Amino acid sequence: MYKNIRCAVVGSINMDLILSADRIPVEGESLPGNNYSYACGGKGANQATGLARLGAKTKMIGKVGDDQNGKKLLDNLKTNGIDTSCVSCEGSQSGLAAIILEKGGKNRIIVFEGANGEIDPDEAADAITDDLDLLLVQFETHNGVVIKAVKSAIDKGIVAVVDCGPAKNFPLEEIQGVTVISPNESETKALTGIYPEDEKSMIEASKILLQRSKAKYAVLKLGERGCSVYDGKDLRILPAYESEVVDTTAAGDSFTAAMALELIRSGDIYSACDIGNKAGSIAVSRMGADASMPTADEILNIRR
Ligand code: ATP
Ligand code: RIB
Repeated sequence: MYKNIRCAVVGSINMDLILSADRIPVEGESLPGNNYSYACGGKGANQATGLARLGAKTKMIGKVGDDQNGKKLLDNLKTNGIDTSCVSCEGSQSGLAAIILEKGGKNRIIVFEGANGEIDPDEAADAITDDLDLLLVQFETHNGVVIKAVKSAIDKGIVAVVDCGPAKNFPLEEIQGVTVISPNESETKALTGIYPEDEKSMIEASKILLQRSKAKYAVLKLGERGCSVYDGKDLRILPAYESEVVDTTAAGDSFTAAMALELIRSGDIYSACDIGNKAGSIAVSRMGADASMPTADEILNIRR
């Protein structure tokens, strides 16, 4: 379905330490954990895996450390069929995300950026070649990397889709001309000052996102409520697909990768967001980040 689409992702690559507990400890409290595991993650790597698992030709642009985790992360990208020729492996430790997973699937994450903080903006921009159809970026690398990567893509006529995670007040004016700007609820609040709780606030927040970034579409990821699409005129809410939630980690990554690919294939933002909702519903039903990313067949099997 997506095998002729050529994509690049500029972003973070992390080792995730996932620790499950009944609840998050309060200040000064120590709680017994129920389980823990290590899994490959990082918003950039998750989205690259999401694209590759859906069949797209995918190149990762980023950095891991020259350590054991770096080797595992690099191997994992290769196993997923991702071109790692633009992932450098030197300098400080690999990125690490400590994820506390509560019963019910909600998480809290602390990220040590490590090598992700050393990506050279010019090298990242140069790795975006004019044979690509799609660039995905997130905000888990330094702002200069995102800004130069997006500019490089736009100059070459490549569609740029921006996943606004993690939440920060990013200078959206510096990435004008992207096709889609896509924050989740807390990222929307960080970027616009408005929490998208109802249709009115979704429109207000989306208008600010479009004004600042000059994007064509603002796609808000709304967790179990699905997503909203604003094209500068109308807002449409697309409900989520029912799912048994195990771990919400990387639901947003899975959504963004699938939505972006379907947008390139069909040119239709609404069918793209519907596919994104399907991918997100699968991701929340599975443990881990990279392991949550669905195949095209799995997405096609999702029905209401
Ligand atoms: P994360 O940061 O955990 O990767 P996110 O906060 O960026 O995720 P969400 O808005 O939580 O992103 O989820 C992304 C998409 O996943 C939603 O737009 C929706 O399509 C799907 N999704 C999330 N939670 C659920 C749920 N409980 N049931 C069904 N689908 C869900
Ligand atoms: O979006 C999920 C990702 O955020 C995790 O894999 C973790 O690495 C953090 O960066």
